[in-house]
Amino acid sequence: MPIKSRIRTIPHHPHPGIMFRDITTLLKDPVGLRTTVQEIVKRYQSQHISKVVGIESRGFIIGAPVAYQLETGFVPIRKQNKLPAQTVGRDYQLEYGSDRIEIHVDAIQPGDRILLVDDLIATGGTAEAAVRLIREMGGDVIECCFVIDLPDAGGRKRLEQLGCKVFSLCEFGND
Ligand code: PRP
Ligand code: MG
Repeated sequence: MPIKSRIRTIPHHPHPGIMFRDITTLLKDPVGLRTTVQEIVKRYQSQHISKVVGIESRGFIIGAPVAYQLETGFVPIRKQNKLPAQTVGRDYQLEYGSDRIEIHVDAIQPGDRILLVDDLIATGGTAEAAVRLIREMGGDVIECCFVIDLPDAGGRKRLEQLGCKVFSLCEFGND
């Protein structure tokens, strides 16, 4: 398990009872980083992806090298008020409160074949907002790809209910 075994768990961070899955230990390891990117690239290299969309901030770390290797463009989805040109945005719920993500209006063209990338899916709130933004702009989300899926948090099912395919390199339960 070259990927899962390199992910560090920090119990009770940032709240009591939360098991934080920390990818920095995967990223700092040359085999870990390389294997992560290669595994994703291998899955999509014959899928005619036109753009990789990464979600700020940890999705950028994974998404950009994947785009480079797939020889596609890379599009950032950013937190509110970070992108300089005209944007469309969407609010989504967090455990406490809400947040907002935005994308440039000219980032995606109708018919673009999009690979959505983030480090982790938990409730799926962030990824669902991203999928809805991409679709609003006419993009076709070929698959949503994560390094880590926390299936108990329900995000995968949520995306599948939207008609999205979901892939993850590894899964973690609550223990
Ligand atoms: C984390 C993680 C995912 C999202 C998953 O990002 O990197 O983007 O939460 O949670 P969800 O499936 O319940 O929506 P976070 O917003 O903490 O920001 P970061 O990537 O900038 O650290
Ligand atoms: Mg994130």
